Amino acid sequence: MQSETTFDLWQPYYDAHVIACDEAGEYPFAGYRALQDQIFEIVHAREGASVLDLGCGTGRMAARLSRAGHPVTGLDFSRAMLSEAAVNAPDARFVPGRLAMPLPEELAGETYDCILAAYSIHHLTDEEKWALLRALRAHLAPEGVIVLGDVSFPTRAGLENCREAYGDKWDDEEYYLVRDELEAALPEYDVDCIPISFCADVYILSPAE
Ligand SMILES: C[S@@+](CC[C@H](N)C(=O)[O-])C[C@H]1O[C@@H](n2cnc3c(N)ncnc32)[C@H](O)[C@@H]1O
Repeated sequence: MQSETTFDLWQPYYDAHVIACDEAGEYPFAGYRALQDQIFEIVHAREGASVLDLGCGTGRMAARLSRAGHPVTGLDFSRAMLSEAAVNAPDARFVPGRLAMPLPEELAGETYDCILAAYSIHHLTDEEKWALLRALRAHLAPEGVIVLGDVSFPTRAGLENCREAYGDKWDDEEYYLVRDELEAALPEYDVDCIPISFCADVYILSPAE
Protein backbone atom coordinates (compact mmCIF):
# COMPACT_ATOMS: atom_id res chain seq x y z
CA MET A 1 0.00 0.00 0.00
CA GLN A 2 1.28 3.49 -0.80
CA SER A 3 1.82 5.82 2.16
CA GLU A 4 0.36 9.22 2.99
CA THR A 5 3.75 10.72 2.13
CA THR A 6 3.56 9.49 -1.45
CA PHE A 7 0.33 11.41 -1.91
CA ASP A 8 1.54 14.48 0.01
CA LEU A 9 4.43 14.68 -2.46
CA TRP A 10 2.16 14.08 -5.49
CA GLN A 11 -0.42 16.70 -4.50
CA PRO A 12 1.11 19.80 -6.20
CA TYR A 13 1.27 17.94 -9.54
CA TYR A 14 -1.73 15.64 -9.20
CA ASP A 15 -4.43 17.49 -11.17
CA ALA A 16 -2.12 18.38 -14.09
CA HIS A 17 -0.74 14.83 -14.16
CA VAL A 18 -4.08 13.05 -14.39
CA ILE A 19 -5.44 15.41 -17.03
CA ALA A 20 -2.31 15.10 -19.20
CA CYS A 21 -2.56 11.32 -18.96
CA ASP A 22 -6.26 11.44 -19.89
CA GLU A 23 -5.54 13.75 -22.85
CA ALA A 24 -2.88 11.31 -24.05
CA GLY A 25 -5.41 8.48 -23.73
CA GLU A 26 -2.93 6.42 -21.73
CA TYR A 27 -3.19 3.99 -18.81
CA PRO A 28 -3.88 4.60 -15.98
CA PHE A 29 -5.96 7.77 -16.34
CA ALA A 30 -7.49 7.42 -19.85
CA GLY A 31 -11.10 8.49 -19.39
CA TYR A 32 -10.44 10.41 -16.15
CA ARG A 33 -12.64 13.42 -17.03
CA ALA A 34 -15.43 11.33 -18.56
CA LEU A 35 -15.40 9.17 -15.44
CA GLN A 36 -15.69 12.23 -13.18
CA ASP A 37 -18.55 13.56 -15.37
CA GLN A 38 -20.33 10.22 -15.11
CA ILE A 39 -20.01 10.15 -11.32
CA PHE A 40 -21.26 13.73 -11.11
CA GLU A 41 -24.32 12.86 -13.22
CA ILE A 42 -25.14 9.80 -11.12
CA VAL A 43 -25.01 11.79 -7.89
CA HIS A 44 -26.67 14.94 -9.19
CA ALA A 45 -29.63 12.93 -10.54
CA ARG A 46 -30.52 12.51 -6.84
CA GLU A 47 -31.61 15.94 -5.74
CA GLY A 48 -29.66 17.20 -2.71
CA ALA A 49 -28.05 13.78 -2.20
CA SER A 50 -25.55 13.70 0.67
CA VAL A 51 -22.11 12.45 -0.33
CA LEU A 52 -19.13 10.77 1.30
CA ASP A 53 -16.12 11.01 -1.05
CA LEU A 54 -13.54 8.38 -0.05
CA GLY A 55 -10.00 9.30 -1.10
CA CYS A 56 -11.22 12.76 -2.14
CA GLY A 57 -7.75 13.94 -3.20
CA THR A 58 -7.60 17.62 -4.22
CA GLY A 59 -11.36 17.94 -3.83
CA ARG A 60 -12.33 18.58 -7.45
CA MET A 61 -15.39 16.32 -7.23
CA ALA A 62 -16.28 17.69 -3.79
CA ALA A 63 -16.11 21.22 -5.20
CA ARG A 64 -18.29 20.38 -8.18
CA LEU A 65 -20.89 18.58 -6.08
CA SER A 66 -21.04 21.14 -3.30
CA ARG A 67 -21.43 23.95 -5.86
CA ALA A 68 -24.38 21.95 -7.23
CA GLY A 69 -26.02 21.89 -3.79
CA HIS A 70 -24.86 18.56 -2.35
CA PRO A 71 -23.59 18.29 1.22
CA VAL A 72 -20.18 16.64 0.80
CA THR A 73 -17.82 15.01 3.27
CA GLY A 74 -14.39 14.13 1.90
CA LEU A 75 -12.11 11.59 3.57
CA ASP A 76 -8.40 11.18 2.81
CA PHE A 77 -5.22 10.25 4.65
CA SER A 78 -3.03 12.82 2.90
CA ARG A 79 -2.88 16.13 4.77
CA ALA A 80 -1.59 17.91 1.66
CA MET A 81 -4.49 16.62 -0.43
CA LEU A 82 -6.96 17.67 2.28
CA SER A 83 -5.47 21.18 2.52
CA GLU A 84 -5.84 21.65 -1.22
CA ALA A 85 -9.36 20.18 -1.11
CA ALA A 86 -10.40 22.67 1.58
CA VAL A 87 -9.29 25.52 -0.70
CA ASN A 88 -11.02 24.06 -3.77
CA ALA A 89 -14.26 23.16 -1.98
CA PRO A 90 -14.79 25.64 0.87
CA ASP A 91 -18.37 24.48 1.47
CA ALA A 92 -17.47 20.81 1.89
CA ARG A 93 -16.34 19.09 5.10
CA PHE A 94 -13.02 17.23 5.06
CA VAL A 95 -11.96 14.58 7.54
CA PRO A 96 -8.52 12.96 7.80
CA GLY A 97 -8.64 9.18 7.88
CA ARG A 98 -7.95 5.87 6.21
CA LEU A 99 -10.04 3.85 3.76
CA ALA A 100 -10.92 1.25 6.35
CA MET A 101 -13.62 0.43 8.85
CA PRO A 102 -14.55 1.78 11.23
CA LEU A 103 -14.63 5.22 9.62
CA PRO A 104 -13.17 8.04 11.76
CA GLU A 105 -15.09 8.74 14.99
CA GLU A 106 -16.43 12.01 13.53
CA LEU A 107 -18.39 9.99 10.95
CA ALA A 108 -19.67 7.28 13.30
CA GLY A 109 -23.38 6.68 12.83
CA GLU A 110 -23.64 8.90 9.74
CA THR A 111 -25.35 7.72 6.58
CA TYR A 112 -25.07 9.09 3.05
CA ASP A 113 -27.14 8.92 -0.12
CA CYS A 114 -24.02 8.36 -2.20
CA ILE A 115 -20.64 7.01 -1.12
CA LEU A 116 -18.02 7.66 -3.81
CA ALA A 117 -14.55 6.33 -4.40
CA ALA A 118 -12.84 7.70 -7.53
CA TYR A 119 -9.38 6.29 -8.29
CA SER A 120 -8.86 5.55 -4.59
CA ILE A 121 -10.08 2.04 -3.89
CA HIS A 122 -7.35 0.51 -6.07
CA HIS A 123 -4.93 1.39 -3.28
CA LEU A 124 -6.50 -1.41 -1.21
CA THR A 125 -5.91 -5.12 -1.78
CA ASP A 126 -8.92 -7.03 -3.05
CA GLU A 127 -9.66 -8.45 0.41
CA GLU A 128 -9.47 -4.96 1.94
CA LYS A 129 -11.72 -3.59 -0.80
CA TRP A 130 -14.40 -6.26 -0.39
CA ALA A 131 -14.38 -5.92 3.42
CA LEU A 132 -14.70 -2.13 3.20
CA LEU A 133 -17.45 -2.23 0.59
CA ARG A 134 -19.47 -4.78 2.58
CA ALA A 135 -19.14 -2.75 5.79
CA LEU A 136 -20.02 0.53 4.08
CA ARG A 137 -23.56 -0.74 3.68
CA ALA A 138 -24.09 0.42 7.29
CA HIS A 139 -23.32 3.99 6.16
CA LEU A 140 -25.83 4.01 3.29
CA ALA A 141 -29.07 5.92 3.73
CA PRO A 142 -32.25 4.18 2.52
CA GLU A 143 -32.00 3.90 -1.30
CA GLY A 144 -28.35 4.91 -0.99
CA VAL A 145 -25.68 3.71 -3.43
CA ILE A 146 -21.92 3.27 -3.58
CA VAL A 147 -20.35 4.67 -6.75
CA LEU A 148 -16.88 3.48 -7.72
CA GLY A 149 -14.92 4.96 -10.61
CA ASP A 150 -11.51 3.50 -11.17
CA VAL A 151 -9.01 1.69 -13.30
CA SER A 152 -10.96 -1.44 -14.14
CA PHE A 153 -11.18 -4.33 -16.58
CA PRO A 154 -14.02 -6.72 -17.45
CA THR A 155 -11.90 -9.80 -16.69
CA ARG A 156 -8.48 -10.75 -15.22
CA ALA A 157 -7.35 -11.58 -18.77
CA GLY A 158 -8.19 -8.02 -19.85
CA LEU A 159 -6.11 -6.67 -16.96
CA GLU A 160 -3.18 -8.92 -17.88
CA ASN A 161 -3.34 -7.74 -21.52
CA CYS A 162 -3.06 -4.13 -20.35
CA ARG A 163 -0.21 -5.03 -17.98
CA GLU A 164 1.66 -6.61 -20.88
CA ALA A 165 1.00 -3.66 -23.19
CA TYR A 166 2.29 -1.13 -20.63
CA GLY A 167 5.34 -3.09 -19.45
CA ASP A 168 7.47 -0.98 -17.09
CA LYS A 169 4.76 1.68 -16.83
CA TRP A 170 2.41 -0.77 -15.11
CA ASP A 171 2.05 -0.05 -11.39
CA ASP A 172 2.42 -3.27 -9.40
CA GLU A 173 1.50 -1.54 -6.13
CA GLU A 174 -2.09 -0.99 -7.24
CA TYR A 175 -4.98 -3.46 -7.18
CA TYR A 176 -7.36 -2.67 -9.99
CA LEU A 177 -11.00 -3.64 -10.22
CA VAL A 178 -11.98 -6.65 -12.28
CA ARG A 179 -15.67 -6.61 -13.02
CA ASP A 180 -16.50 -10.31 -12.82
CA GLU A 181 -14.45 -10.69 -9.63
CA LEU A 182 -16.18 -7.71 -8.00
CA GLU A 183 -19.60 -9.12 -8.90
CA ALA A 184 -18.68 -12.53 -7.48
CA ALA A 185 -17.20 -11.07 -4.27
CA LEU A 186 -20.14 -8.83 -3.44
CA PRO A 187 -23.42 -10.73 -3.79
CA GLU A 188 -24.92 -8.35 -1.23
CA TYR A 189 -24.99 -5.65 -3.91
CA ASP A 190 -26.65 -5.37 -7.30
CA VAL A 191 -23.87 -4.11 -9.55
CA ASP A 192 -24.35 -1.86 -12.56
CA CYS A 193 -21.21 -1.19 -14.65
CA ILE A 194 -20.75 1.76 -17.02
CA PRO A 195 -17.68 1.38 -19.26
CA ILE A 196 -15.63 4.60 -19.59
CA SER A 197 -12.37 3.77 -21.41
CA PHE A 198 -10.16 0.75 -22.18
CA CYS A 199 -8.96 0.89 -18.58
CA ALA A 200 -11.74 2.57 -16.58
CA ASP A 201 -15.28 1.79 -15.47
CA VAL A 202 -17.87 3.30 -13.19
CA TYR A 203 -19.81 0.93 -10.91
CA ILE A 204 -23.04 1.60 -9.06
CA LEU A 205 -23.52 -0.75 -6.09
CA SER A 206 -27.06 -0.90 -4.71
CA PRO A 207 -27.85 -3.11 -1.70
CA ALA A 208 -29.54 -6.27 -2.99
CA GLU A 209 -33.09 -6.92 -1.69
C1 LIG B 1 -5.33 8.75 -7.20
S1 LIG B 1 -5.92 9.81 -5.94
C2 LIG B 1 -7.65 10.06 -6.38
C3 LIG B 1 -8.15 11.41 -5.95
C4 LIG B 1 -9.55 11.79 -6.41
N1 LIG B 1 -10.56 10.94 -5.82
C5 LIG B 1 -9.66 11.77 -7.91
O1 LIG B 1 -10.60 11.16 -8.45
O2 LIG B 1 -8.83 12.42 -8.56
C6 LIG B 1 -6.09 8.69 -4.57
C7 LIG B 1 -6.43 9.43 -3.27
O3 LIG B 1 -6.75 8.45 -2.27
C8 LIG B 1 -6.01 8.74 -1.10
N2 LIG B 1 -5.71 7.45 -0.46
C9 LIG B 1 -4.99 6.41 -0.98
N3 LIG B 1 -4.95 5.38 -0.14
C10 LIG B 1 -5.66 5.77 0.96
C11 LIG B 1 -5.96 5.14 2.21
N4 LIG B 1 -5.55 3.89 2.47
N5 LIG B 1 -6.70 5.83 3.09
C12 LIG B 1 -7.12 7.10 2.83
N6 LIG B 1 -6.86 7.76 1.67
C13 LIG B 1 -6.14 7.09 0.75
C14 LIG B 1 -4.76 9.48 -1.54
O4 LIG B 1 -4.21 10.30 -0.53
C15 LIG B 1 -5.29 10.27 -2.74
O5 LIG B 1 -5.76 11.53 -2.36
